[in-house]
Amino acid sequence: MKLFLDTALLEEIRMAADTGLIDGVTTNPTLIARSGRKLEDVITEICELVNGPISAEVISTDFEGMTKEAETLSKLHENVVVKVPLTKDGLKTVNYLAPKGIKFNVTLCFSLGQALLAAKAGATYISPFIGRLDDIHHRGIELIPEILQVYDNYGYETEVLAASIRSPLHVTESALAGAHVATIPFKVFNQLYKHPLTDIGLAQFLLDHEKSK
Ligand code: E4P
Repeated sequence: MKLFLDTALLEEIRMAADTGLIDGVTTNPTLIARSGRKLEDVITEICELVNGPISAEVISTDFEGMTKEAETLSKLHENVVVKVPLTKDGLKTVNYLAPKGIKFNVTLCFSLGQALLAAKAGATYISPFIGRLDDIHHRGIELIPEILQVYDNYGYETEVLAASIRSPLHVTESALAGAHVATIPFKVFNQLYKHPLTDIGLAQFLLDHEKSK
């Protein structure tokens, strides 16, 4: 399973990428605003830190605007994946520019029907938002196997990118369902390798080693 980091904070990206376990990065307008920096600058610097797909999201909501932004963003670096919202104009943009070689991550996906249309449009990634579905009392995780099943039925190559991940359980459940990618906040990345029994076990091993000297 590929792991992307869901942040625009360079320090977090540097620390997580240092492990060698990060395959890409996703950002969104909220994360960019949190960084306090310009989208183009942040994306360019992220591309220098991580050699993998880096998602940069458009702000326009109409086809003309999205197309223009997608072309500009995709020129920042060969690894840039343009993120567009799952709207009619978003899908139209994907359908128009994907054949020209621009990669798209279709975001804000909350239903199977939306995911089907994104694959038909030619998206490289579809981002179902697990956590936000949980927030409104739906089992977000159930969307992952459903999308995978439909994509498999028709041979769509769009990859399922589990997004809006809030916990290690979201990551492992996405992995069990077969999601190609999970994009995870820095906090969740750190939670993933932590286990109290590992810490206790290691402390005991080191203590015994000291005694045996
Ligand atoms: C990433 O692609 C999404 O924008 C992000 O995972 C959304 O996460 P949130 O629902 O926690 O804001």
